[in-house]
Amino acid sequence: MFFRKKTPIEDIEVKEEKKEFSTFGLNDILHYIKREIGVDLFVKKGIIETKMKLFCEDRELHSFKELHEAIQYKSDLRQELINLLTVNETYFYREEKQLQEAIDFAKQRGQTINILCAPCASGEEVYSLSMMLTEQMSRSVNFTITGIDINSEAIKKANQGEYSQRSLHKLDDSLKDKYFIKSDNMYTVNRHLFPSVRFTQVNIFENSFLNMGHYDIIFSRNMLIYFDEEFRVKTMKRFNQLLKDEGRIYLGHADIVPKDESFVKHGFGSSCYYTKG
Ligand SMILES: C[S@@+](CC[C@H](N)C(=O)[O-])C[C@H]1O[C@@H](n2cnc3c(N)ncnc32)[C@H](O)[C@@H]1O
Repeated sequence: MFFRKKTPIEDIEVKEEKKEFSTFGLNDILHYIKREIGVDLFVKKGIIETKMKLFCEDRELHSFKELHEAIQYKSDLRQELINLLTVNETYFYREEKQLQEAIDFAKQRGQTINILCAPCASGEEVYSLSMMLTEQMSRSVNFTITGIDINSEAIKKANQGEYSQRSLHKLDDSLKDKYFIKSDNMYTVNRHLFPSVRFTQVNIFENSFLNMGHYDIIFSRNMLIYFDEEFRVKTMKRFNQLLKDEGRIYLGHADIVPKDESFVKHGFGSSCYYTKG
C-alpha cells in the first residue's frame, strides 16, 4: 500500500482543526445574560454549558471568552444566543380557568380593554384571549391584545401564526374550524379574525418597554420562574408602571411571586390576581 507523505502545511492545518475548546469565560456570559434579560442560568449551568459549547463550535468560536467578547458588538449573534437560552414552551388555552377569570373581569370593565401578554412566546396565549373575547363579549366592546417577548424567533412565529396539532390540543373542533386554516397537519390563524392582536419583540428591562402604553390586564405567566428575587421585584415594579389604576396582573401558577409592597394579592388558585399596592 502507498502512503503519501503529508506536506508541512497539511500538518499545520490538522493541528488547527484540533484546537481545544476553552470553557473559560462561562460565568461572565451567565452574569451578562442575567443582567441584560433577568434569566438566571446559574441554576442549570451544566446543561447551558453543553448547549453554548455547540453554539460556539457551529460559529467557529473557540471559547466562551470569545463568545462573550463577540456579543458585546455583534447584535445578531447576541440575539441568536438569547433565542437559544430562552424557553418558549406554550400552547392554546393553557390554564383556561385563569384566562376565563380575566375575561370575566374584562366583561365588567367596560368599553375598551387593553391587555398585555408579557411574555407571549410564540403567541398562543394572545390568540387564545382574542378568541375568548370575540366569542363572549358584545360587539360594542373593543379590545386590544399586545404580545411581547424577547425571543425574536418566537415573535416571528407568533406573527406567522402557524401551529401544529399539538399546540392546539385543548381546542374544540368548532374553534379550529372557525379561526384557523388547515393545511396538511398545520393550522394557520385566520388573521382577519384577529384584528386587535399585535406582537412586538421587547426585553421587559429595556426603557422602551415602559413606553408601551397602559393596560387593564397584564398577563405574565411562566417568566418569573426564570428570574431571581431581585429581578422578580424589578419585573413587578415595571408591570405596576404599565398597569391602569384598577387593573389586574395575572401570573402563572408556578411563578414565584416576590415579596414587595408595590402590589397586593387577591384570591387564590386560578382566581388569584394582583393589583397596585
Ligand atoms: C415559558 S414562556 C411563557 C409563555 C406564555 N406566557 C405561557 O405561559 O404559556 C417564557 C418566555 O419568557 C420570555 N422572556 C424571558 N426573559 C424575558 C425578558 N427579559 N423580556 C421579555 N421576554 C422574556 C422567553 O423568551 C420565553 O418566551
